[in-house]
Amino acid sequence: MNVYPSWRPKRVEGEVGRKRAGKDRFKVERLSEKDAIEVEELLKEVWFNATEYPEKWRKARAIGRNQIIIEMNTGFHYFGIRLNRKIVGFYKARITKNAYLGEHQSVHPAYRGRGLAKAMYTHFIQFAKETGHRKICVNILPNQVASMKLMEKFGFKKVKEYEQIPGMLVNLYEKKIEDENTMGGTNK
Ligand SMILES: CC(C)(COP(=O)(O)OP(=O)(O)OC[C@H]1O[C@@H](n2cnc3c(N)ncnc32)[C@H](O)[C@@H]1OP(=O)(O)O)[C@@H](O)C(=O)NCCC(=O)NCCS
Repeated sequence: MNVYPSWRPKRVEGEVGRKRAGKDRFKVERLSEKDAIEVEELLKEVWFNATEYPEKWRKARAIGRNQIIIEMNTGFHYFGIRLNRKIVGFYKARITKNAYLGEHQSVHPAYRGRGLAKAMYTHFIQFAKETGHRKICVNILPNQVASMKLMEKFGFKKVKEYEQIPGMLVNLYEKKIEDENTMGGTNK
């Protein structure tokens, strides 16, 4: 059984710019058990090819449908973006000691550079705000260029550097959520 809290986030909707083929409508929405197979496929596509990460981490991130369903039922909130009814972007969030931790952000390679990750960060901030949390955090690999840009754009601050798994140094970033506009960073 899939047990989610009664709270539902507002949908973050928008348009993803495309260079030639007009614009696709998109929204960030909560995912459920019925989406597990599609998330599994997306994760394989993204993480088997995410060569900036050590192989061990890439394998660990390509989780299967059973693990996805277990996580959905044990405190992870799964969110995604569908384009033409296909899930092309995903992230999950869970509460840690004193903050929401965002993890596992994945955008299908064919849909990158169109603002899907930005839409998910905007959603993450709104989600934390609406559930009464004032701090969010993420672990970022320093050579993941797009993620580093997102840290700057959304005004995250580096807290520490540590080995997430042996041999893989990541930066832990935090953002305090103010009662201001959602994009708290440089707003470029
Ligand atoms: C990281 C990731 C989620 C970004 O997704 P995305 O939808 O392409 O990101 P966006 O389109 O929202 O772009 C965010 C910023 O990064 C930039 N960017 C995107 N891809 C880039 C690339 N390959 N090189 C340099 N900059 C890039 C964008 O231009 C944008 O910056 P801008 O607003 O200054 O122009 C995606 O590349 C991915 O799934 N990577 C593999 C998995 C991963 O590393 N996940 C992060 C886990 S923390």
